[in-house]
Amino acid sequence: TRPPNPGDRFSFGLWTVGWTARDMFGEASRPALDPVEAVHRLAELGAAAVSFHDDDLVPDDATRDKTLAAFRSALDDTGMYVSTATTNLFGHPVFKDGAFTANDRAVRRHALRKTLRNIDLAAELGAPTYVLWGGREGAESGAAKDVRAAFDRYAEALNILTAYVREQGYDLRFALEPKPNEPRGDILLPTIGHALAFIGSLEDPDLVGVNPEVGHEEMAGLNFAHGITQALWHGKLFHIDLNGQHGPRFDQDLRFGAGNLRGAFWTVDALESGGYAGPRHFDYKPPRTEDMDGVWATAAACMRNYLILAEKAAAFRADPEVAEALTASRVPELSEPTMGAGESLESLRAETLDVEAEARRGMAFEHLDQLAMEHLLGVR
Ligand code: GCO
Ligand code: MN
Ligand code: MN
Ligand code: MN
Repeated sequence: TRPPNPGDRFSFGLWTVGWTARDMFGEASRPALDPVEAVHRLAELGAAAVSFHDDDLVPDDATRDKTLAAFRSALDDTGMYVSTATTNLFGHPVFKDGAFTANDRAVRRHALRKTLRNIDLAAELGAPTYVLWGGREGAESGAAKDVRAAFDRYAEALNILTAYVREQGYDLRFALEPKPNEPRGDILLPTIGHALAFIGSLEDPDLVGVNPEVGHEEMAGLNFAHGITQALWHGKLFHIDLNGQHGPRFDQDLRFGAGNLRGAFWTVDALESGGYAGPRHFDYKPPRTEDMDGVWATAAACMRNYLILAEKAAAFRADPEVAEALTASRVPELSEPTMGAGESLESLRAETLDVEAEARRGMAFEHLDQLAMEHLLGVR
């Protein structure tokens, strides 16, 4: 497998390699990482871009200009660009009951101000996508949140943000990131499907899509490749967070390819053959056990695993035996409309099917899946 290069459009959140590994139970196990160093190291590894939360890039407002100048030079020196920006609307305890859907109106107004300010920065830095992950939008108990009112406020916030972007003439679209739980007991917009339905009720739905994360759908027991394919079908896969997860448990944010490897294979296949045009963005957390060498090893591995899986998926798709197996499984037949062009319901009704004979016919999916597995295992 060839090394990654900027043409692959791999991107990393500053908060991924920069995570100091402070968790629910323990203190940081790694030192803070300067965004400038992150940009240089990621560029050396073959990445094309970075993304950031307002607070990752500018932790201290007093030195904002200096910090941004250093970041811009790092981008200029390396040729890296900003693929995405987002707002930290979850870290500060002021957001303990949410941001755009906090019960407290003053908190909601603060969240809007914080977001508008970072949208300006995102536009200045040329980011095409602005991610909104509502980590604190939710509840732990039933009566605490008026869910209907929360959706009114969530939509109100999105309507304000989209109108602002139009007014300013920014070339920026929003991507909602679903997650079922953690840090809230139950988060609003828990899955891709919930987010897609919500977008349909906004005032400017064209400016809003989704940013699905592998682990978040898998925490809900869902099939990620199916989810992103539906988002692509709706024209809504604006961005993606690639990482790894072992089934329904706490959000593991493992490096891409770890955890559900077969899921990762189908995810890459879905992206590569589905016309996804955005960055291949990694949102993961190098485990707390790793020192900085281990961090860079995981970053390299995310990209390498993607490229290995892209190679495997391409080989699977090009394998003549796979083509035969797909036909035997009648997969290409699904692309044929159920009714012929101009055909009437009358002719449909006039036809009969030998249902018993049809029912006896196997689908041969197991053979097809075994071929995929053998490609993945490297024995074909
Ligand atoms: C998670 C989330 C977050 C968000 C990111 C953008 O793992 O719970 O993915 O990492 O993606 O912080 O706001
Ligand atoms: Mn996650
Ligand atoms: Mn994410
Ligand atoms: Mn994450």
